[in-house]
Amino acid sequence: MKIQEKITELKSKRNAVILAHGYQPPEVQDIADFTGDSLDLSRKAAATDAEVIVFCGVHFMAETAAIISPKKTVLLPDLKAGCPMANMITAEKLSGMKAQHPGVPVVAYVNTSAAVKAGSDICCTSANAVDIVNAVKSDTVIFVPDRDLGNYVSTKTGKKLILWDGFCPTHEKMTPDDVIRARKEHPGAVLVVHPECRPEVVAMADEVLSTSGMCAWARKTDARQAVIGTEVGIIHRLKKENPGIEYHPLNKGAACPNMKKIGLEKILWALEEMNCVVRVPQETSEKAKKAIDLMLARNKRD
Ligand code: 13P
Ligand code: SF4
Repeated sequence: MKIQEKITELKSKRNAVILAHGYQPPEVQDIADFTGDSLDLSRKAAATDAEVIVFCGVHFMAETAAIISPKKTVLLPDLKAGCPMANMITAEKLSGMKAQHPGVPVVAYVNTSAAVKAGSDICCTSANAVDIVNAVKSDTVIFVPDRDLGNYVSTKTGKKLILWDGFCPTHEKMTPDDVIRARKEHPGAVLVVHPECRPEVVAMADEVLSTSGMCAWARKTDARQAVIGTEVGIIHRLKKENPGIEYHPLNKGAACPNMKKIGLEKILWALEEMNCVVRVPQETSEKAKKAIDLMLARNKRD
């Protein structure tokens, strides 16, 4: 029996659903019941009837699913798959920031630990960050941990964002030189980048979108060539859903090592052993849930 068949069999025995982020390896995206961006995946985790969620992504994503659905068992097939950007801020560091700016509301990018979310007023993802910051009733906002997404959001909202100095090491790899090279090699291609990219790269782009935003863009564009400025895994999803476009990575080395830690064997082991469970302490979970639920309530009608 092929490994995919074994996973499918065990998945139905366990009443499990497999959710995968668009940065996952192709074979993981292909076995998943649903592939999406951080916002899509948190909505799916909230809506599923399955008892078990096999989360193919990184730790903060599985934690978010466990917070949203505390009665479900959330498995992360490799518990060491973390997010270096999320690890750049801790609950203690956030408390220090809040003490320096009393009364200023905190917007936490979902790429944060449950403890950081618990100390925040509302969460956001790259897909809704502009909308969420606009909705906060204050012209000054503490925004953690991504300084690059924060920069982008401040230009779009006109608000004063007090930023933490965090960044995504994978998106940081993409530079203006990559843009100059790509424009030369693929004249006429549309440059679509993720807002986690450096501000210099964002300023040179034609479109700035979350990963699912890129897929939605590909569905409706007339462009036949695109240069994609995000983690390279998304090109698999883009090609699968919209094969009529030629996609070129802005930087083919932009692969997130943590996103690539999960593979079919680990998914099978996770379902067999049921031992890579992500749990969040109840008090932290309840506080973090308020910040996540506020975000999800805002995006309900999308
Ligand atoms: P999305 O918000 O597009 O899912 O991607 C952000 C990211 O880096 C996930 O780790
Ligand atoms: Fe974290 Fe960047 Fe990897 Fe996303 S791509 S999980 S932000 S390190």
